[in-house]
Amino acid sequence: MHLTPEEQSMLAGEQGKASQKAMQILETLGRIYGAERMLPVKSVQIAGVSYDNLGDAGLDWLAEMADGGGRTRVLTTLNPAGMDIENWDRLGIPPEFAEKQILVIDAFARMGVITTCTCTPYLAGNTPSPGDTIAWAESSAVCYANSVIGARTNREGGPSALAAALTGRTPEYGLHLEENRQPGVTVDVQARLSGTADFGALGKAIGERLESLGRRAIPYITGIDSASLEQLKSFCASIATYGGLPMFHMQGITPEAGDYTPPAERFTITAADLDAARQSLVDASPAEVDFVSLGCPHLSIDEVARIADLLRGKTVTKEFWITTSRPVKALADQMGYTGVIETSGAKFAVDTCCVVAPIRGRFHAMSTDSAKACYYAYSKNRFKTRLLDFDQVVREAVGEG
Ligand code: F3S
Repeated sequence: MHLTPEEQSMLAGEQGKASQKAMQILETLGRIYGAERMLPVKSVQIAGVSYDNLGDAGLDWLAEMADGGGRTRVLTTLNPAGMDIENWDRLGIPPEFAEKQILVIDAFARMGVITTCTCTPYLAGNTPSPGDTIAWAESSAVCYANSVIGARTNREGGPSALAAALTGRTPEYGLHLEENRQPGVTVDVQARLSGTADFGALGKAIGERLESLGRRAIPYITGIDSASLEQLKSFCASIATYGGLPMFHMQGITPEAGDYTPPAERFTITAADLDAARQSLVDASPAEVDFVSLGCPHLSIDEVARIADLLRGKTVTKEFWITTSRPVKALADQMGYTGVIETSGAKFAVDTCCVVAPIRGRFHAMSTDSAKACYYAYSKNRFKTRLLDFDQVVREAVGEG
């Protein structure tokens, strides 16, 4: 693998211990995947931020990198943490967890990471341009960056993303190469889609069909006339969860779709397939639901505005978390949405989400519009789930479900 003099200097430890470790990680990855060189990256998104996932071993590693002089060389943002950094006590997070989580955030901050704590960095100041080389972790954001924005990133893990941040480099393999971005299978969608839950169900239906066919091919999706930012972020989260896919093309919608013709191998997703995917995520009755959450992936300001509209003058009857980034929450404050939402009894859970917060055992059944949240609510927290349309979720929270 060819390294520039600058990269060799990092590897030799001439630029500090943390840069050396980071370059060792990247050089090893590059050799494993047959990369010929490193690419400079424009931005990084780091996942693996919740102390619930990191534990003490992860915290120690981050502290060691910060103590070893690790400093970001490019714009670097953070995935959700295990709690709202400012209002963790209102969400019932134990103080001993909060103490550790704050140490994690501090270690990232010492390295110059912008502690946004969001899985929608593209709505919070880390917004790449088409063609940009980036190194992002967080499967939903990776899928969004590749597919919807047209930037180029592999699906990084926490350590490789941090290594990219501390060196400003990533090895050139996988989705950084044109030939690996070509679609391998056409998916013809013959169903009407109306909201984020439908797009999440579509991601599940396509992801699971590809898995059952044993195909990890990038799908070329036809038959969808339009899709909003919110619908696409829901779809990205779902297809990455259920199909492990870092990218798709959607005819007439995503920027690289026009570069390709639909592949000959194809299958169809019908309205019945979509309905089956939705129904598979409903195993709780309205009476059983004791936890309601919107914001997987983190909400846009439009979505927060819609929640405020629906909650105006109402009172929630169930624990209701609204998860978003701090910049979007600041806008909600400015627009008066926060006051309306909090007056209803709903809670903002900024910097975190219903999956990475340590809430296993606190609730029994959850309503959401997110197919991805359903998957992890069950697999991580053992909650029953109830997938509903966005507005229906809010109605259920106020006892009108
Ligand atoms: Fe984001 Fe948490 Fe969902 S990190 S994509 S809100 S599981």
